[in-house]
Amino acid sequence: MIELKSKEDIDGIRTSGHLLAELFNELGEKIEAGMSTWDVDKICADFMKRHHSTGPCKGYMGYPSVSCVSVNDMVIHGIPSKHEILKDGDIVSVDICLEKNGYVSDSTHTYEIGKVSDEVHQLNIVTRKCLYLGIEAASAPNARIQDIAKAVFTHATKHGYGVVRDYCGHGVGYSIHEEPEVANYVSLMNPNPRLRPGLVIAIEPMINMGSYKVKTLPDGWGVKTIDGKPACHWEHTVAITDSGLEIMTEL
Ligand code: MF3
Ligand code: CO
Repeated sequence: MIELKSKEDIDGIRTSGHLLAELFNELGEKIEAGMSTWDVDKICADFMKRHHSTGPCKGYMGYPSVSCVSVNDMVIHGIPSKHEILKDGDIVSVDICLEKNGYVSDSTHTYEIGKVSDEVHQLNIVTRKCLYLGIEAASAPNARIQDIAKAVFTHATKHGYGVVRDYCGHGVGYSIHEEPEVANYVSLMNPNPRLRPGLVIAIEPMINMGSYKVKTLPDGWGVKTIDGKPACHWEHTVAITDSGLEIMTEL
């Protein structure tokens, strides 16, 4: 069941989302070569503590950290580790859920460490653009959920990239994962509800430079590309209100 949010709920999700956006700004200033992915997670955890908020990823189905830090061919759910050191030329997606006053927001940024290859930079630019095209599609009057998928898929495949199918965006706000699913590819098999005021969703294209296929690591969390090529991930929480779409996780 899709739970539509009240105006008061959306105010709460906005507060949470804006705080999360501030955290991404801080990460953008601090993330650099030589740091471990655990250090990245520590920045997130410290920020949350300082701002009287929590990271609901930690403990979610036994997940150990407040962020997912996914380097290069890791698509999503990379578990932060003291042994994984960021180096020049890496791309790193940091996926964070933040809870403030009971309201959850969810967002992902992909950072470039030092100088990345032109190919990898292009993947990052195109994936971010996919996110914003998905958001634009969701803003249209009478939009349906699969309009988002169509916009994302069309742009990514135009560049020859693989669109991850095994993982989706989702409703969010009271908890991390709510209905509806927000896929990044169109399927007649998937439900296609209309976007209505009160709907709050996380839109999150996961785009691979090569094949769309992925595999799960033995740790049960990490998801890598099947061909070892890099992957990219951008995500925003957005709300549909009476006056249109608003991005909750952007200042
Ligand atoms: N933030 C992720 C998402 O976009 C959820 C991560 S799963 C967790 O759906 F276990 F890490 F929380
Ligand atoms: Co999400």
